[in-house]
Amino acid sequence: MALRNSACQLSKTASQAVATPALSSLSAPPRWKLTPFQRQLRSLATAVHPVTQDATSSKGPTAMVFMNMGGPSTVDEVGDFLSRLFADADLIPLGRLQNYIGPLISRRRTPKIQKQYAAIGGGSPIRKWSEYQAEEMCKILDKTSPETAPHKPYVAFRYANPLTEEMYNRLLADGFGNGKGGRAVAFTQYPQYSCSTTGSSLNELWKWRQRLEGKAGPLDDGKDGTIQWSVIDRWPVHHGLVEAFAQNIEAKLAEYPEERRSQVVLLFSAHSLPMSVINRGDPYAAEVGATVYAVMQRLKFSNPYRLCYQSQVGPQPWLGPQTASAVEEYIAKGQKDLVLIPIAFTSDHIETLYELDEEVIGESGHKDTVKRVESLNGSKVFIEGLASLAKEHLESGILCSTQMGLRCPGCKSERCLESKKFFAGQQTLPGQ
Ligand code: FES
Repeated sequence: MALRNSACQLSKTASQAVATPALSSLSAPPRWKLTPFQRQLRSLATAVHPVTQDATSSKGPTAMVFMNMGGPSTVDEVGDFLSRLFADADLIPLGRLQNYIGPLISRRRTPKIQKQYAAIGGGSPIRKWSEYQAEEMCKILDKTSPETAPHKPYVAFRYANPLTEEMYNRLLADGFGNGKGGRAVAFTQYPQYSCSTTGSSLNELWKWRQRLEGKAGPLDDGKDGTIQWSVIDRWPVHHGLVEAFAQNIEAKLAEYPEERRSQVVLLFSAHSLPMSVINRGDPYAAEVGATVYAVMQRLKFSNPYRLCYQSQVGPQPWLGPQTASAVEEYIAKGQKDLVLIPIAFTSDHIETLYELDEEVIGESGHKDTVKRVESLNGSKVFIEGLASLAKEHLESGILCSTQMGLRCPGCKSERCLESKKFFAGQQTLPGQ
């Protein structure tokens, strides 16, 4: 995965060495009145559906910010993507040498990773799918949650454009904050929480919030006119997610002859983590396991299954078993009907299109019987599930899950401490 094919692979080397129209077009200034920066933001804006209804709703507008790691949309963006990836100590802790080793590894790895992105069509589709999912979800929310409409879709990637900083500046340019307040929901697109994924994105969001809106402590009343944030920080067993996975699995199983179908082994595959992260107390493995079990419950345990982890690299111990090894070993045992299910990402990315399709399946010698389910991408069931989850969150008035307030037992990070104080420290939202 990008971690394996980009970020994580580098640990091996190391060891060896939607934008939107203005918040309301009603208040948007004409282009000639904008600063050069504001004009640039407007020109970068991705076209989204016009939000015309419920502009006078009591609690709207609401910014819905999809957070994910992102991926380079073009081969030329690979270098910057890797450079940011290896600079992130939440994801790849390299100690005091992070600022030296990170750039070194990213420069060395760039040509190889560029070839991999070239092989999947010249770039990652994750931006396209993230923007589509966010826009479609907001269209549904405008109908199902008119009291918080209009809902405005934004995407904030951790390592690729649009970066968190760009998203935050767009929020401000669109009329949120700057004394006007407004509500924003940070909606992680990692269904299962890890401090190295969602935690890292939230730490970055907190950093830019402090830089762009001031270093006030946890907000508790919204009277200072800053943006009021709440967080959907995990949703490993949400019914929409489970149903979308289950339907895609059923569709893939239907491709096997009926007499073999019930004996096809389902191999769920999630990105791995170093055991040092797991042993620090990271909740990721437990939440991935919860998703797998919920999907199997929905399928009435129709098939035998296992959870595997992909993208391990370097000499350190990682969470296993490895997906590639599991496929090889099952085939060696005579089990050639295998369905791979990427269970920890919500759209295609290099780990599905290259690592699973080209490497694991392509090199298995059994491309006709080793298959992969479709990623969630534009699944209607999935997007309706996102809207259902967001509506539940908006109605609940909660700021984040109870889990968000608890640090890993082995956490020593000041970033985690301050970020959690900010996002989990507020107890109630105004008007809730
Ligand atoms: Fe998990 Fe800091 S590493 S809370």
